[in-house]
Amino acid sequence: MYPKLTINLQYYKDNLRYMINLLKREHLKIAPVTKVFRADPKLMEIINQFDVDVIADSRISNLKIMETNKKKMLLRVPMLSEVEDVIKYADVSLNSEIDVIEALNKEAKRQKKRHEIIVMYDIGDLREGIYYKADDEAFIERIKTLKSIKILGIGTNLTCFGGVIPTQKTYIKLKEIKDRVERILGYPLEVISGGNSSSLPLVMDQKLPKYINQLRIGEALVCGRETAYGHDIIGMHQDVFTLTAEIIELKMKPSKPEGKIGVDAFGHRVRFTDRGMIKRAILAIGKQDIALDQLIPPAGVVILGSSSDHLIVELERDDFKVGDQIQFGLTYGGILSVMTSPYVEKNYVPTNMG
Ligand SMILES: Cc1ncc(COP(=O)(O)O)c(C=O)c1O
Repeated sequence: MYPKLTINLQYYKDNLRYMINLLKREHLKIAPVTKVFRADPKLMEIINQFDVDVIADSRISNLKIMETNKKKMLLRVPMLSEVEDVIKYADVSLNSEIDVIEALNKEAKRQKKRHEIIVMYDIGDLREGIYYKADDEAFIERIKTLKSIKILGIGTNLTCFGGVIPTQKTYIKLKEIKDRVERILGYPLEVISGGNSSSLPLVMDQKLPKYINQLRIGEALVCGRETAYGHDIIGMHQDVFTLTAEIIELKMKPSKPEGKIGVDAFGHRVRFTDRGMIKRAILAIGKQDIALDQLIPPAGVVILGSSSDHLIVELERDDFKVGDQIQFGLTYGGILSVMTSPYVEKNYVPTNMG
């Protein structure tokens, strides 16, 4: 059945091993992020084989189905309405709101647990976290009094909203926060969770400040690339996930529509240049499954556009016919979409061990 998502388990395993070793050389621990593949059990089995302390996901529903003996970390700051499940299914959560932390404390006490938190600081990217210039003393002092909450560490997230690239200069802010929080708490923090796949260029250049001891890594493991500049990481696989779709029509047609031009099926005004007759194929996949800019076509295949159920490509090659399949690479966003589409069949290439 097509469209088909192929997940190469060996490639994921290779990438995970590569990343763990890369981080280990810089005295860093990895928190592999599983949200992009919805904590898929076969990929979870691979993570479970490695020396990893904590597995991270942004959704409680994924943490709930995760089979593992490792610690589970909730990546997205919790909703007040999900506090009961956070305590039930996560060992650690990232937090920035005192009302939520107090609710977590109350619920942890009720469930007879001690919940660990990483306090998030915003050092310029402007997504979650206490703004680094804000006065956080009362906040930390208040958490200190909560018996069922332990501050495990502090964290920050970059290159997600504001596109801020981690640099040694930016990380000076996090160091100042670390020193201040440790002074207020009176004990050293166990975890300094310094970022995500966008911190990898600094790691590879051996320039990540030494006080950072954890990175939460998602995209690099599935796409084999860092996210500060979008460069492939040599030695990693970029094609852990690929998507195959079938050609349902293949015809020579003009490159420019004929008649009075309005908008396309999604209300967008479309423009075309006349390049004469071209070889066009329609594939049975559409916007309902994936946005077209999340697909990476093979050489000789040019994406022209898509509607809900049709992807239109120009073929610069002669070796395709109706019924053939075309295999595409996927961006991180593309993997997210197809993993959540019920219309895309998932299949696995096993590890070399079977
Ligand atoms: C808080 C947080 N940390 C880490 C990650 C992982 O980021 P990346 O996939 O760029 O490694 C994400 C996103 O999934 C996140 O929301």
